[in-house]
Amino acid sequence: MSLPDGFKALVITETEDKQYTRAVEQKNISDLPEGDVVVKVLYSSLNYKDVLSATGNRGVTRNYPHTPGIDAAGIVAESTSAEFKTGEKVIVTSYDLGMNTAGGYGQYIRVPAGWVVPLPEGLTVREAMVYGTAGFTAALSVWEIVQNGVKPDDGSILVSGATGGVGSIAVSILSKLGYSVTAVNGVVDETDYLKKIGARDVISIEEATDTSGRPLLKSLWAGGIDTVGGEILATTLKTVGSWSTVTCCGNVASPDLPTNVYPFILRGVRLVGIDSQNCPMPIRREIWNKIASAWKIDWLDTLTTEASFDELDSKIEMMLQGKHLGRTIIKMAD
Ligand SMILES: NC(=O)c1ccc[n+]([C@@H]2O[C@H](COP(=O)([O-])OP(=O)(O)OC[C@H]3O[C@@H](n4cnc5c(N)ncnc54)[C@H](OP(=O)(O)O)[C@@H]3O)[C@@H](O)[C@H]2O)c1
Repeated sequence: MSLPDGFKALVITETEDKQYTRAVEQKNISDLPEGDVVVKVLYSSLNYKDVLSATGNRGVTRNYPHTPGIDAAGIVAESTSAEFKTGEKVIVTSYDLGMNTAGGYGQYIRVPAGWVVPLPEGLTVREAMVYGTAGFTAALSVWEIVQNGVKPDDGSILVSGATGGVGSIAVSILSKLGYSVTAVNGVVDETDYLKKIGARDVISIEEATDTSGRPLLKSLWAGGIDTVGGEILATTLKTVGSWSTVTCCGNVASPDLPTNVYPFILRGVRLVGIDSQNCPMPIRREIWNKIASAWKIDWLDTLTTEASFDELDSKIEMMLQGKHLGRTIIKMAD
């Protein structure tokens, strides 16, 4: 595969008055950072972190101009690594992609070979991006629930931020594995959607938020996958049963965790942090292989919106306004 003279990329630029503008620009391969593998990006996806990068969040992206996109899947266009051959289909997510390294909102990326995962059998490039970082994070969260011995018969698993990317895929995988799922949904009522993707029950943010201030509450759940943080995570910890596991990956509600030690010392609750970005490669490959086989969701279309590169800007805006549902994938090239 020959490399093109130029390609399109979404570029975020910081203006003099500290505003951040988004525009599609023409780029050259020589503009890309050093790396072993050049990938022609066929699909990318939309994650909360992309929105942060696209709006000048310095915790995600230090320097602008910058091309976000923490997810990319496509075809190896050039490789100096013995591990990857031109024409091979691959997934690149996590590490520094789209943060301070030009990301998947460009039609080409160049990255270290250590960031690249061969596309597992059973998954298309498009499907890989329906999962993307959000789906990988959901799968890693489910993996922790399973690894820690929580079984479908133990009771319901509470999933917060359920209509979001991580939440939707967590609900779907848990349901596929036979777990009964209670979804927390609050920003926009999407009960029908959540039931379609496998939730048994749907509760509101108010129902998932304790206001009594009591240190522990009646046990309701066998585990939890939290994507929002704050009071909802604190309440989850107070309402899970003995020896249960709760995972924590996000902070859309709050980065704070107003809790106490009683869930841990009286019920043996395990709170497991999820860091998909630095997940070691052997576990990363194991998770992608599960996603492509036994854990593959049968209703991927229900949670997918496909957008063209031209629509990316409006999709970023939608996520900013909290109106995003499920997973949005971006078709970057044919
Ligand atoms: N640690 C990691 O490795 C990792 C990886 C990926 C993502 N994340 C984090 O996980 C979180 C979710 O990511 P995502 O891609 O799923 O985002 P998303 O698609 O924007 O979904 C977030 C969901 O959270 C709920 N929500 C939004 N604002 C809320 C609020 N103020 N209070 C309570 N719930 C609220 C909404 O669901 P409902 O309307 O259904 O309640 C929304 O759909 C983000 O914080 C992201 O940074 C972490």
